[in-house]
Amino acid sequence: ESITVQEDAGYYFATNILVENLIKNPTFQARSDDILIVTYPKSGTHWIQAIVNLMVQNVENLTDRYKNYLYHLEYTPHQVLNDAPSPRVICTHLPFERIPLNFLREKSKIVLCVRNPRDVAVSYFQFCANLKAIDYRGSFDGFLNLFLNGSLPYNSWFDHVSSWLKVVRSVRHDIHVVRYEDLKQDFLSTVSDLARYLQVDTSPELLEKIQDGTSFENMKICFSDYLLDMSINGKSVIFRKGTVGDWRNYFSPAQVAMLEDEMEEWGLHKHKSIRFSVE
Ligand code: A3P
Repeated sequence: ESITVQEDAGYYFATNILVENLIKNPTFQARSDDILIVTYPKSGTHWIQAIVNLMVQNVENLTDRYKNYLYHLEYTPHQVLNDAPSPRVICTHLPFERIPLNFLREKSKIVLCVRNPRDVAVSYFQFCANLKAIDYRGSFDGFLNLFLNGSLPYNSWFDHVSSWLKVVRSVRHDIHVVRYEDLKQDFLSTVSDLARYLQVDTSPELLEKIQDGTSFENMKICFSDYLLDMSINGKSVIFRKGTVGDWRNYFSPAQVAMLEDEMEEWGLHKHKSIRFSVE
C-alpha cells in the first residue's frame, strides 16, 4: 500500500502543489506583519486559520470573504500572495528547514498548531481515502505504516514537529504553540493567549464571536461547498468529525505501542507543549 507523491531531495509533496512556489525559483517575500500558521496536515489548519483571520481582519463572519483569505504557501500563487494586503495569514505544512528564511529575518509572527498524532493519523487516513487526487484504497493498518515511515505528503509527523519544536526550544524566534486539544477543551483561554501573542484585541465580545463563528458546526456550514469537487464520497474533505480521541476507533494496543516507540525515538514523548492524554 502506498500513496503517490512528488519528491524533492527526499522530501515528499502532494502531486497538486505549485511546484514553482517551492522547488523552482521561489519569489515569495515575507513581511514583518505576516502571520504564518504552521501545521502538519490534519492538525486543525482550517480552524486556526479562521480563528486568526477573524482576529486580525475586519471580517464580520466567515462567509464574508473567507475564500479570499485562505492563503497557503504551497498552493497560492506567489503573485496572489505578493499582491495580498497586510496582514496576511498564510498557512504552511512545511518543516522548519523548508520555510522561506525571510519569515525569520522579518520576524513575522509564527503560530504552530499541534494535534495528537493518533488523531492526526486517523484524520489523514480518512482524508486520503476521500480525496480524488489521492484515492487511497488501503486499510488503516497500511496507512499507519506509511504515517510512521513518513511515506506521505509532508513526510513524517514526528520529523515535522521535531523540526519546529527545536526552534521553539532554542528561542531563536518567538513562536506561539497551540494544541488542537486545548482549543477543544478550553477555547476562550487558549484563544486569548493567542490574541496576546498576536497583540490584538482580547475583548470577551470578540473572543465569543470567534468561538461561535469557528465552531465545527458553523464552519462546516460556511465551507459546505469548499473543495467538494475533490471529494469521493460527497462529504466534506476537511470537516469530518472535529473531535478528540477518534483514534480509539482505529488503533489496536500494538499500534498504540508502535506510535509511542516512535515518539520516544524522536524524543517527543516528554515535550510539555505536545503532551497528549492517552486515557
Ligand atoms: P477530523 O478528520 O478528525 O474530523 P486540517 O484543517 O489541518 O486539514 O485539519 C482537519 C481536521 O480538523 C479535521 O479533523 C476537521 O474535522 C478538524 N476541524 C476543522 N475545523 C474544525 C473546527 N472548527 N473545530 C474542530 N475541529 C475542526
